[in-house]
Amino acid sequence: MTKNKTAYSCQSCGAIHFKWAGKCPDCGAWNSLVEEFAEGGASHFSRISEDKKITKKTDGRKIELVKLNGEAQDFPRVKVGINELDRVLGGGLVRGSVVLIGGDPGIGKSTLLLQTAESLARSKNQVIYISGEESVDQVRLRAKRMGINQDSIQLASTTNVGEIISSISSEKNPTIVVVDSIQTMFLEELSSAPGTVSQVRAAAGELTIFAKKNNITLLIVSHVTKDGQIAGPKVLEHMVDTVLYFEGEKDLHFRILRAQKNRFGAANEIGVFEMNEIGLSEVSNPSELFLTSYERETSGSIVFAGVEGSRPILVEIQALVSPSFMPTPRRAVVGWDVNRLAMVIAVLSNRFGLSLFDKEVYLNVVGGLKIEETAADLAVACALISAARDIALPSNTIAIGEIGLSGEVRMVSNLEGRLKEAAKLGFKNCLIPRANEKNKNFAALKKSLTELNLQTIGHVRDLSKFFKKN
Ligand SMILES: Nc1ncnc2c1ncn2[C@@H]1O[C@H](COP(=O)(O)OP(=O)(O)OP(=O)(O)O)[C@@H](O)[C@H]1O
Ligand SMILES: [Mg+2]
Ligand SMILES: [Zn+2]
Repeated sequence: MTKNKTAYSCQSCGAIHFKWAGKCPDCGAWNSLVEEFAEGGASHFSRISEDKKITKKTDGRKIELVKLNGEAQDFPRVKVGINELDRVLGGGLVRGSVVLIGGDPGIGKSTLLLQTAESLARSKNQVIYISGEESVDQVRLRAKRMGINQDSIQLASTTNVGEIISSISSEKNPTIVVVDSIQTMFLEELSSAPGTVSQVRAAAGELTIFAKKNNITLLIVSHVTKDGQIAGPKVLEHMVDTVLYFEGEKDLHFRILRAQKNRFGAANEIGVFEMNEIGLSEVSNPSELFLTSYERETSGSIVFAGVEGSRPILVEIQALVSPSFMPTPRRAVVGWDVNRLAMVIAVLSNRFGLSLFDKEVYLNVVGGLKIEETAADLAVACALISAARDIALPSNTIAIGEIGLSGEVRMVSNLEGRLKEAAKLGFKNCLIPRANEKNKNFAALKKSLTELNLQTIGHVRDLSKFFKKN
């Protein structure tokens, strides 16, 4: 057995390799391998310990097997008191759960957590806020700027996990602990630097075990990094119960908190906030945010009635088509999948007769929201046709539908929610998939929304009647 003295761990995905490479063979990140283990110091990692012979084998303790359909208790939850956050969490923080909050630097993670701490402290929870990044004074200054005045929040600035655990243990009944951020934390037992995969994992592991044992709810902040200098939240996602990501363009003032994973609620649920000097305020009707004010009809623009998690959201989609003098014309997308755009362009070219091969195409989802739904296909197709032909659709039009490769428009989920949101915001014309008519509750839905003019689309070629020059 050869003994590996050195190992490299990928700071992006956490994979361990014995040879250095410029590109991680597992996740494809560049320059993300960092030498982390020397002299067999990585033996606690399974990939490395595989070649150690397991010699001890004992009979395990006998565990009791129970019936699946027995009585179960619902998870005890603590409401944060910030509605947008509570919804994303699935109805509040579950006691003893571990929540990871990831996001780009400066997006507002500390701000959100300080507000969370305040709200929880106000409802008589024992909150401890540990900052590894900022001094106590810095946190106090932020709290002052935000008008947070809570004597009951306990504050400390440290990066030593051992210190944190022993300090928390000596506090009386702490229920919520905030650790900002996990990349600054380290365990004395490990020789690698804070922010490396092994430190981040071990620190999160120690804190998690401690929190679960003591029924403490743990909120961990994690930076998202693009350059792989420090380990990102990906290496922790599987260890925690809930993963929330903060999204948003830095120069726009609203932020979207999205549940990437949730063991206690629906994933993909979103909360919308607006950032201002006094912190993050909730946006309870986000559709208004993602629509530009509609006074004039402009070509290339249409509203898509999307669903994020359980919540319908209307967003404006804009397309711009211009002549290209490049061998490969540009296709640039903000807020949607560029491959999906390529597919819609190809379908329009083959099944609708709209050729864009010599055109540059830009697609923008207004407001910095990232849409992942394929139900946006039809809206994108409308925006592209409208932009290419310079024909505007009536400004009170929305479109929903997935497009297949043969040009057929496929059924979407939650049509009711989408249409109700559209009606609520005063839209009239709705281009929807004909396939949805087959649903047994469609007739009833149509009856209940008489203010809407529902136009069913079976195939992309059915769109041509909306784009006729007069
Ligand atoms: N004095 C101020 N007035 C208004 N807004 C401010 C002020 N100071 C900071 N902000 C806002 O707060 C944001 C930073 O928030 P916060 O520190 O919570 O982010 P973070 O995600 O914790 O960042 P980091 O990665 O540095 O920890 C800034 O981007 C800015 O929008
Ligand atoms: Mg911060
Ligand atoms: Zn990797």
